[in-house]
Amino acid sequence: MKTRTSATAIFVGIAAIAAGCASMSDQEASQKALELMKTSFSERGQAKLDRLDQDETQKLCSKPPALELSKEVATRIEKANLDSIRYPADGMLLGDWKSGERIAQSGIGKQFSDDPKLPSGANCYACHQLSKAEISYGTIGPSLYNYGKLRGTSEPIQRYTYGKVYNSQAFTACSNMPRFGHNAILTEQQMKDVTALLLDPNSPVNQ
Ligand code: HEC
Repeated sequence: MKTRTSATAIFVGIAAIAAGCASMSDQEASQKALELMKTSFSERGQAKLDRLDQDETQKLCSKPPALELSKEVATRIEKANLDSIRYPADGMLLGDWKSGERIAQSGIGKQFSDDPKLPSGANCYACHQLSKAEISYGTIGPSLYNYGKLRGTSEPIQRYTYGKVYNSQAFTACSNMPRFGHNAILTEQQMKDVTALLLDPNSPVNQ
């Protein structure tokens, strides 16, 4: 029978490894912790074990000194992520804000229990206030209420907003915001739609 390991058990395990191996280098300890995690999780549906593999940005942001990220490393992370942004070939950055609102509200997608053939949501409200009407929202990110009203809808603002949704790390190294385009969570059209949600004067964000 397969058992599921709780997060607590994993952390207790990691702590035990760390405590028992005071002489281990940071790198060795991280490697051991990763091996332990890999044996503790099992693949289910679309949630594969490669989700534990970190790219360069995640590695840099996971190092303890990242708490005091040097300006040089932060700049390196932002540049690499900025270079990865792919703007739409048709040059249009604004989609349908009504669809954007549904995407911002939906937390469905990428979980093992979700159908990978269906489009994912972005769960923007989990971290941001966006409209007045929705009173249930998280505060990990800044309020985006009146975002378009405050910043306008100039070409540079449209590009920044689309780019921020595509890859948040391009503008803020080690941001806690998901990289929706970079990690193929949202499609190009969906990113246009949430960009319109933030910028369209008729969207609930700007009322
Ligand atoms: C897991 C939390 C989380 C989610 C989900 C999230 N964000 Fe963010 N967002 C943040 C954090 C934290 C910041 C501030 C740090 C930074 O700028 O990266 C931020 C910053 C931003 C900014 C920059 C604000 C500024 O003042 O320039 C925009 C725009 C934004 N988010 C839009 C979105 C949209 C649109 C979505 C949904 C598609 C979304 N966010 C989903 C956490 C999140």
